[in-house]
Amino acid sequence: MVTLTIDGRKLKAEEGQTILQVAEDNNIYIPTLCHNEAVKPYGACRLCLVEITRRGREKLVASCLYEVEDGLEVKTGSDRVVSNRRMLMELLLARCPNNKEIQDLARRLGVEETSFQQDDKQCILCALCVRVCQEVVGVSAISLVNRGVDRQMGTPYYEPSDVCIGCGSCAYVCPVGAIDFKDVGDTRYIKWPSSQMDFKLKKCKTCGGYWIPERQLEYMIEQTGLPPGTFDNCPDCR
Ligand code: FES
Repeated sequence: MVTLTIDGRKLKAEEGQTILQVAEDNNIYIPTLCHNEAVKPYGACRLCLVEITRRGREKLVASCLYEVEDGLEVKTGSDRVVSNRRMLMELLLARCPNNKEIQDLARRLGVEETSFQQDDKQCILCALCVRVCQEVVGVSAISLVNRGVDRQMGTPYYEPSDVCIGCGSCAYVCPVGAIDFKDVGDTRYIKWPSSQMDFKLKKCKTCGGYWIPERQLEYMIEQTGLPPGTFDNCPDCR
């Protein structure tokens, strides 16, 4: 166990925990966008920054990446944290001025407008979708491509991916709703910021409803070794 303070509260934590985990365990709010417990921390959005004092020296760190240590002092709302976080939020607001999630978070952090030049993007390039596809689903169908202002998220070469199974996990975890995902009749449509695909859905043998992409089913059968008949019915009819 290690002992640290966050905003003046003396807390105990497990070795290896990040500052963000300890804060969340103790109901201390730190804003995040690219963090999700299901995948390894990545440190893309920097919104979770906090100020730490270590051996008498102060510095800003991403709390989702920084592991706690004995005697660490953490401030989640110092002037330095607040002004840096506001600037990051202004940059995000400039990138995605029409995104509802970004607008809501900006308001929560006291940012009403941005002084930076505005674009009209939806994706914040946090790569959460990419990491979930790779680390949780295990297929790596999407990635961040290009550099600088041309950086985008989508399928390789903006072409339909051979390995995407249409599960929609990328859309579920996107913190800003930048991936469109809908089922219409027998087809699932997924639209990423720079490419799109559609997937044929399988029909339930009992109720006749379309419920899962055929590619996802094939992947599940391959992964589990279960007989194909196991998935003839949708979860409601099973
Ligand atoms: S949540 Fe820590 S960098 Fe995004």
